Amino acid sequence: MKLLEFNNILELSNWATDSILKAANIAIEQKGYFTISLCGGSSPIQIFKNLSNSKVSEQLDWNKIFIFWGDERFVEDTNKNSNYNLINTLLLSNISIPEKNIFKTPVNESSVEIAAEVYEKQIIEFFSEKNGLDKKGIPVFDIMLQGAGNDGHTASLFPGTPQLKETKKIVVNVEAPEYAPVRDRISFTFKLINNAENIILLLSGRNKGTIAGNFLSNNPKTDLPIQHLDRSNKTTVLIDRSIYLS
Ligand code: 6PG
Repeated sequence: MKLLEFNNILELSNWATDSILKAANIAIEQKGYFTISLCGGSSPIQIFKNLSNSKVSEQLDWNKIFIFWGDERFVEDTNKNSNYNLINTLLLSNISIPEKNIFKTPVNESSVEIAAEVYEKQIIEFFSEKNGLDKKGIPVFDIMLQGAGNDGHTASLFPGTPQLKETKKIVVNVEAPEYAPVRDRISFTFKLINNAENIILLLSGRNKGTIAGNFLSNNPKTDLPIQHLDRSNKTTVLIDRSIYLS
């Protein structure tokens, strides 16, 4: 696991943007396309703004970039809690990306269970066509952008939920705890997240010092969801020093 500390969210986001830009251009050059799974929350906001800035977006061939959602709330696209809405407003509406490259979570399905199943099928189908499945048939994303909540959740994988240990499915429906905005969620599992080429974990926002400490410790006293993330060198943890403030 690589650890990088930044003085503030702006510096962190600039580093992350540059890293996404480089990874996208390398992937496009090597295999003709780039896949990224995005997260919601406040931590990635500046990254989305940076990517939509013309100086950055002009350096990317959006026709060859495919965007997915690592987790979503089971609400309409226009809902203020929708991760699609956030990313659409900050990024997609400002760039020229073909509609077919945007793999938004199918929140129009009749239930959250069906939405998770349909999304899993769509993802497998896409990666299969691109020859992007590994030997076990699991998609290999170029980048998984992950956030972490104050309770240590990542994507919509919350503490104490059975989905943390899911070994078959790559997308699941989750009932988030009562304190979470919108309880019906669709989430990638660690089986899919940890199979990516690169995982970027954003640790930003006050009051995350304790979870960061536990996560980074070699001898953690807790079992936080973020501790299930791959700890090899393909994972880069970006720490905004404000997490140590309360
Ligand atoms: C979501 C996210 C989630 C997020 C964390 C961190 O809930 O939609 O994808 O996993 O990354 O809750 O949120 P903040 O960045 O706002 O702290």
